[in-house]
Amino acid sequence: MADLSERLREALAAVESAGTLDELEALRVRLLGRNGEITAQLKALGSLPAEERPTVGKAVNRAKNELGAAIAARRKALSKRRLDAALSEGGIDVSLPGRGVLPGAEHPLSRTIRRVRAILAGAGFAARSGPEIEDEFHNFTALNMPANHPARDMHDTFYLPSGMLLRTHTSPVQVRSMLGEGAPLKVISLGRVFRRDSDQTHTPVFHQVEGLAVEEGLSLANLKSLLHEFAEQFFEREVEVRFRASYFPFTEPSAEMDVRWEGGGWLEILGCGMVHPEVLRFGGVDPERYTGYAFGMGVERMAMLRYGVRDIRRFFDNDIRFLGQFAP
Ligand code: FA5
Ligand code: MG
Repeated sequence: MADLSERLREALAAVESAGTLDELEALRVRLLGRNGEITAQLKALGSLPAEERPTVGKAVNRAKNELGAAIAARRKALSKRRLDAALSEGGIDVSLPGRGVLPGAEHPLSRTIRRVRAILAGAGFAARSGPEIEDEFHNFTALNMPANHPARDMHDTFYLPSGMLLRTHTSPVQVRSMLGEGAPLKVISLGRVFRRDSDQTHTPVFHQVEGLAVEEGLSLANLKSLLHEFAEQFFEREVEVRFRASYFPFTEPSAEMDVRWEGGGWLEILGCGMVHPEVLRFGGVDPERYTGYAFGMGVERMAMLRYGVRDIRRFFDNDIRFLGQFAP
């Protein structure tokens, strides 16, 4: 026992004078490791007479704990000393620039969608939605395109085996809104639509925003002024627009609106017109009392014009070099 406390004193002194973390670790292994001195003492307990074992055992354990605590304290002190040394030697230059961060960016289409919604909400339109998987009634028939109507062919429709289809435009929401809410009505619906179509200005999946207003006494002049006002707010610059007479079975008269590219050429952005009386009737609205206007706008086309992107497919490539340009 006397020997043990003598060894403990020596060991504690050695710990206290260990000058480096490596030295301290070597010491720990020599004292407390699997083949260390203290461990050997614990192992030797077995050879002692039974009556001595508890006292000696307790003493060895106490020595072991004391040493462990001393080593931990010394390790902490040496670590701190090493850090202080590194800092004062200038090993860490706190004035170096940090590692570069790449800021994320909102997708240009998400940004366009957010702005289109906000501008139209400001003009008093409430947001509605409809299903992407539609039936022929809402996508065609109720829009004055009965079975075998030639205009159905223009839509390059994806049909599902069930006989349902992927909506080819957002116009079916017109009928759903009128049937659901009646007149008067002022709603928009923005969402994905689908067509078998792909080139520089067409993708098979794209977004449309449908607008529908039904009131007493609405006229084409109301529609034109709304769309003109919308374009000015959206583009935040002088834009040249033109209306071309067109044909849709669900509006009469009908028009398409083009916007001029900065630098020349025209891009069609929407179709519009006065809601056909037959469509009002399908929606349960009395065409003798109410008139309505409607428009269906291509959201990607708006983004193309706003950001000067000449190929619509760039929006769907997920190329980080392209998308990174829209970082704020
Ligand atoms: C329609 O879809 C009509 N439902 C629009 C409408 C609504 C007319 C209400 C009258 C009243 P159109 O097929 O022209 O019309 O498409 C409307 C707009 O969607 C186009 O002007 C264009 O901006 C955009 N668009 C059409 N096809 C594609 C496509 N494949 N990819 C991207 N944008 C497209
Ligand atoms: Mg068109």
